[in-house]
Amino acid sequence: MSVNELLKDSNEDEDDTVCLGESFFINNNYELATFTFGSHVLQLLCLQSASTDFDLTGQLVWPGARLLNEYISNNAELLQGCSAIELGSGVGVTGILCSRFCREVVLTDHNDEVLKILKKNIELHESSENPNSSAALSAEKLEWGNSDQLNHILQKHPEGFDLVLGADIYILQNSVPPLFDTVKQLLLQGKERCRFILAYVSRSKMMDVMVTKEAIGHGLQIREVEGTRSVISNLEGVIYDITL
Ligand SMILES: C[S@@+](CC[C@H](N)C(=O)[O-])C[C@H]1O[C@@H](n2cnc3c(N)ncnc32)[C@H](O)[C@@H]1O
Repeated sequence: MSVNELLKDSNEDEDDTVCLGESFFINNNYELATFTFGSHVLQLLCLQSASTDFDLTGQLVWPGARLLNEYISNNAELLQGCSAIELGSGVGVTGILCSRFCREVVLTDHNDEVLKILKKNIELHESSENPNSSAALSAEKLEWGNSDQLNHILQKHPEGFDLVLGADIYILQNSVPPLFDTVKQLLLQGKERCRFILAYVSRSKMMDVMVTKEAIGHGLQIREVEGTRSVISNLEGVIYDITL
């Protein structure tokens, strides 16, 4: 690839700094990986590492997804027959596991590149599952705080959802307030006793405080699920149960 091609989509700021376009960072060499959660085995396409530039973090499976999936596989009765929406699904390991228990699962992400692999993984899963024993799965674009995108999803699901799910979705501080805007709207439009189950992995004290503060600031109740605090990939994780 020539230098000119690399710089094709670049922007120049006032002091002539040139940024590389998104295409420079994209790695599509996905490999099939096997994940086991309790008695559940999933095979998905993903990477082993990804660029944080252009937020390609969703191309791989994060510790929070492992934590949430262990919790789900040990508490499958909580999901039985539910409709669920997942925020920041990445390659879809959590939403796809949920489809073993739920009636319907909508997996969402804001990144177009991530949405491509998410859709491929949904197809892969659907082709390997018994259609009579698996939930309806779909992927939708959803940027937290984007009401148009959320309304588009809610128009397709006017009855709302029983569960909102999120795994390891706090990376940038400025995405926390819009995330809770979206969560609150989903809880308000959700079914009775709709809850947000969040697998939170701690990476900084500041973020730990901010998550709880934002939840409370949005008028939500945040409760640590007993027995879920654990060490995962050298980090401390916990499951939060967040309700109106
Ligand atoms: C760290 S990854 C976690 C992916 C997956 N849940 C897991 O645990 O493996 C964060 C995910 O959230 C998505 N994300 C980040 N900011 C977002 C935003 N503002 N709106 C929607 N999705 C976002 C990213 O594209 C990415 O897929």
